[in-house]
Amino acid sequence: MYKSKITGLGKYVPDNIVTNNDLTKYMDTNDQWIRERTGIEERRWAVPGDGNTAATMGVKAAKIALERANLTPKDIDFIVFATLSPDYYFPGSGVQVQDMLGCDTIGALDVRNQCSGFIYALTTADQFIKTGMYKNILVIGSELQSTGLDLSTRGRGVGVIFGDGAGAVVLSRSDDDSDILSNHLHSEGKYASELTVKVPGGENPPNKLVENWDPEDLTYYPYMNGNYVFKHAVTRFPEAIMEGLKANNLTPQDIDLLIPHQANLRISQFVQKRLRMKDEQIMNNIQKYGNTTAASIPIAMTEAWEQGRMKRGDIVVTAAFGSGFTWGSNIIKF
Ligand code: ACO
Repeated sequence: MYKSKITGLGKYVPDNIVTNNDLTKYMDTNDQWIRERTGIEERRWAVPGDGNTAATMGVKAAKIALERANLTPKDIDFIVFATLSPDYYFPGSGVQVQDMLGCDTIGALDVRNQCSGFIYALTTADQFIKTGMYKNILVIGSELQSTGLDLSTRGRGVGVIFGDGAGAVVLSRSDDDSDILSNHLHSEGKYASELTVKVPGGENPPNKLVENWDPEDLTYYPYMNGNYVFKHAVTRFPEAIMEGLKANNLTPQDIDLLIPHQANLRISQFVQKRLRMKDEQIMNNIQKYGNTTAASIPIAMTEAWEQGRMKRGDIVVTAAFGSGFTWGSNIIKF
């Protein structure tokens, strides 16, 4: 079996910074509430006409990752694209990336696992490398969420949390000790309705939305049972991390850097306390970008690498929990 190595990392976020105070233009909220409950200070939101979509932002992040990996789009054998906010209902954004980057007619796969999307995507890519089927895979997490939020006071529990952006990694066949040591994926679909966008979908296709939609029905906006999600998250995050550590005979103290999905700073702090980890062992940047769902881990990972917080040989652990419910972790020897 071959080993997998992250050989390039890139990120892209829209230029437009939206502070907590800016949000008071749309809804009854305030900086203090948002900071205290989530840790978020600002987020990036695309503006109409700036050309940012899940696919185009993914391409921008991917170009940086490719350059840092010393590869061109022609070297890429496969694309895995994680998003909950694709440009089209179908096809997925992976094929757009294949086209925009000018890759050969390689396979492109979309992953629909929301906040756990990048963990599922990296795991998928890892399997293709490990079996020897592919040598270089582009793994992208990208979200344009700002255009789908209810920005009125009615939607404030969700609207203040989410941001736009993209992160990408190149996963290549490893020729040294670097490897993805193990991956751990979980789901519990009985909670699908606790964090969801139901429309459009099989039960409510787009034509129903246009033709005879009940104006009171807001199921085309994200619904999140925040408290409920929070309670599950603080259990599942440590569980997924400990499962991965145990599989590799490691302890939380062996982690050089934990990169949790940036769901809420309070969740990360809870996990840190529970696992008795030091501040320098955890990457948090939700303060600047909000929750960018499938993009949050590759954005945080890229930023950690750029800041010198992630070095070759380090034990890097990712963990996520979100809609589905889905959760999981990757244990990486970087
Ligand atoms: N500004 C001001 N007040 C607000 C806001 C806001 N933006 N939003 C809600 N409030 C009010 C509510 O109306 C409520 O008021 P009330 O007590 O008078 O009814 C009060 O604040 C408390 O609301 P809660 O929803 O109970 O607040 P909570 O402490 O649960 O925090 C939050 C909400 C931040 C969403 C939290 O529940 C959370 O972080 N949940 C987990 C989020 C998460 O991890 N999601 C998974 C990833 S997302 C994905 O997978 C796509």
